[in-house]
Amino acid sequence: MFSKLAYAERRKNLAAALSGGLILLPGNEESPMNYADNTYHFRQDSNFLYYFGVDQASLTGVIDADTGESVLFGDDLTVEMIVWTGVLPSLTSLAEKVGVERVKPASELASFLSGALAAGRNIHYLNPYRSDIVLKISSWLGIKHQGMAESSSLELTKAVVGQREIKSKEEIDELDRAVEISADMHLAAMRFARPGMRESEVAAKVAEVALSANGNLAFPIIATIHGQTLHNHYHGNTIQSGDLFLLDAGAETENHYSGDLSSTFPVDRKFTQLQKEIYQLSLDAHLAAVSMLKPGTAFKEVHLTACRTIFEGLKAFGLTKGNADEALVAGAHALFFPCGTGHMMGLDVHDMENLGEQWVGYDGVPKSTQFGLKSLRLGKELRPGYVLTVEPGIYFIPELIDQWKSEGHLSQFLNYREIEKFKNFGGLRNEEDFVITQEGARRLGKALPLTVEGVEALRS
Ligand code: GLY
Ligand code: MN
Repeated sequence: MFSKLAYAERRKNLAAALSGGLILLPGNEESPMNYADNTYHFRQDSNFLYYFGVDQASLTGVIDADTGESVLFGDDLTVEMIVWTGVLPSLTSLAEKVGVERVKPASELASFLSGALAAGRNIHYLNPYRSDIVLKISSWLGIKHQGMAESSSLELTKAVVGQREIKSKEEIDELDRAVEISADMHLAAMRFARPGMRESEVAAKVAEVALSANGNLAFPIIATIHGQTLHNHYHGNTIQSGDLFLLDAGAETENHYSGDLSSTFPVDRKFTQLQKEIYQLSLDAHLAAVSMLKPGTAFKEVHLTACRTIFEGLKAFGLTKGNADEALVAGAHALFFPCGTGHMMGLDVHDMENLGEQWVGYDGVPKSTQFGLKSLRLGKELRPGYVLTVEPGIYFIPELIDQWKSEGHLSQFLNYREIEKFKNFGGLRNEEDFVITQEGARRLGKALPLTVEGVEALRS
């Protein structure tokens, strides 16, 4: 938890950014896994955490945008509950810690909101992502489930994005910590993985680091010999000599800030010659992207630089041909790099993604619909205080290659006869996290080895 002043300031600034009305911020409920009392690990809603700081289930925060006053709705534990859960701080003491003026029982929330509606007040809420919260908002405000996203407040969405996207000094400290732990997760895997192990053994080693730091995983671990599948969460393969291992994993700190790193290493002690060359090309794209990070540069340009590096570099392997600018406009690079170079990171690993990429990543400008570019989550101009990932990669996806080849898609830029030979190569990427500073950018956390020699040294 940050200081009382930090939360009070955030709520004051949010209230000031709105034209008036009430701001409704429901915290999360426990979420059942297979029966009501067997729940997933509790994760508080990030917007609630940002403005109200209290990491407990079944609370709702309301900020009056006209008066600036805040109310926390919830209930203290009964003695019968304490028998099972132990004592928790009283809501009054928690509210005091985050500078909230008033606490009210949860049972008063519905009438509080209906009274405000009857008085003609506007009630702003953010597009919910959990069905229990959809049901609650629906019953409180009389909005049909289907219309929930459309009636969510654009004014509130833009104000929250505007605040949360600029990280404060104390948030950057927390993100540094998250990335530091994330780097330890990767180092553990790079030292541990050996031929004959299952991917799940490596994944367990990685998870152990995050859990022993008293945090959690920021997202499900990707630990795979099939790095060409972008979000591959299957860990059942046995890793074998000759394979490349792709790890994409990050820690969430006790205070719920995320890290997100990717590394690729040979299952053997050394890369093969071809692996080394493709790895180096992906690393060149990564470093070219990193060198562009500074205020005023549009992240879309950073992405296109990574795409161009990959497209040009693959010419040496006989896979690509023709004018790179024209190829990029046509989207030919996306056969090998069908996703984006990075995304915002903060309390959420894809920070604020549920508030809409159009606002989080594009300042309201509609995003490209082209295959590849449509998966770039961040395109807008960088500003000091942004925290983001850089993660270009090279992927040989057999199904995509087959489809494009059968259509002769963009064959003026793609040499399918040679590409065919790479169908079993897999995929690779490196990922690091950066904060944009006044002058440029600073990598968060400690550096992972990136060079071929650096990675191989860890594997010996
Ligand atoms: N770390 C997973 C992703 O960025 O999508
Ligand atoms: Mn990422």
